[in-house]
Amino acid sequence: NGDNGYDISKLRAATGNVTLDEAFGNTASCRSEITFIDGEEGILRYRGYPIEQLAEQCSFVEVMWLVIYGELPTKEQVEKFEDELVHNMFLDERMRDLFRCFPRQSHPMPVLSAGICALSTFNRNHVGLGAEDVEIATRKLLAQVPTLAAYAYKNSKGQPFLYPKYDLSYVENFIRLAFGTPAEGYQFDESITQGLNALLVLHADHEQNCSTSTVRMVGSSQANLYVSVASGVNALSGPLHGGANQSVLEMLAAIRDQGIDPKDYLEQVKAKKAGIKLMGFGHRVYKNFDPRAAIIKKYADEILSKSPNGDKELLSIAKRLEEIALEDEYFVSRKLYPNVDFYSGLIYEAMGFPVEMFTVLFAVGRLPGWIAQWREHNADPKARISRPRQIYVGHDKRDVVPMDQR
Ligand code: ACO
Repeated sequence: NGDNGYDISKLRAATGNVTLDEAFGNTASCRSEITFIDGEEGILRYRGYPIEQLAEQCSFVEVMWLVIYGELPTKEQVEKFEDELVHNMFLDERMRDLFRCFPRQSHPMPVLSAGICALSTFNRNHVGLGAEDVEIATRKLLAQVPTLAAYAYKNSKGQPFLYPKYDLSYVENFIRLAFGTPAEGYQFDESITQGLNALLVLHADHEQNCSTSTVRMVGSSQANLYVSVASGVNALSGPLHGGANQSVLEMLAAIRDQGIDPKDYLEQVKAKKAGIKLMGFGHRVYKNFDPRAAIIKKYADEILSKSPNGDKELLSIAKRLEEIALEDEYFVSRKLYPNVDFYSGLIYEAMGFPVEMFTVLFAVGRLPGWIAQWREHNADPKARISRPRQIYVGHDKRDVVPMDQR
């Protein structure tokens, strides 16, 4: 008998022979050629190329091409591709009305997701699963998601929208659309553009994480690429996934503002009483270190030392938390190490990006991965609809009691 007194053999007979793997800790849901992770060794590769080399040597646009089409582009290919994307960053003017519907100060993530769904309606003649429609949707999303993301933020601040500029790169356009003003444009700083480029590369794909599995799952019903990607944005928004980069900064600021000793904060985490976690720590797959965090940490020191915006006190709290945690039995025995989000928020802040944009920056970075994974599923002639099973543990059969007797 099960915990609730029901006859397990009866339940098994009804369910069939299924495996219970809560939260898919041990279940591979697909075969994929896109991203390789070795969680024990801290290895991450896109299409075979180590993340360290890609972050150092390649632009985000090159990596988008690599992740989606499988090979690094030639100079000519990448120039043509970037030019095409930049020329397609303009949104249909009617999309402006959509933004006005949302209350001021709305978080940009749900607004971005709604905007991506709306894109499918403006491209309704090209939402099929055939190669041509998929290619059109791919290019539209890559070109216009950064614009939507920037406008979602502008709208939350009540600031006017800017138009993309053909003489700027893809990443520069995104930065200017989000943080520039019509009067002054945006004063570019090469180290910020390069830093953001590297951060976007680090986020470009990460195999079957929560948001990517969501995109593949929604796509497995043959829902179009736009709405599948919008579902990925929603999945990413939670604090246990992409939303963690915002939560880390809020956690560090709370520790500073309330004058909490980092050691005492970790004691609270370990006591598990208030349900608080050390945000930015732990990972389902990496059990040694997250190679993205190692790269980001190097940038954090460099960018914070130069930037007038960066809060060095928060960086030193983060470093102290990491130092204590890495020597503490609780964290060591559970193999909890800093993940990509532990330092990324600090860098975004140092770059002058507001905290509510952190998860949006993650979404812009992860976009090529979502698209590549959806395309991989869609291109497989044997692909089936995703449909996990369950073990039913509810009531046995019972009869409805008439309303006057309940
Ligand atoms: N702080 C304190 N304890 C933690 C943390 C943490 N950050 N992460 C895990 N633990 C503990 C759990 O309470 C659990 O303890 P127990 O064995 O005593 O019950 C044990 O470590 C195992 O953790 P799980 O929750 O089973 O690990 P899971 O693989 O399910 O979750 C996750 C991974 C969601 C990343 C988790 O570590 C977490 O919540 N971290 C904080 C949020 C975060 O940084 N998310 C970003 C992840 S990276 C990304 O999505 C980009």
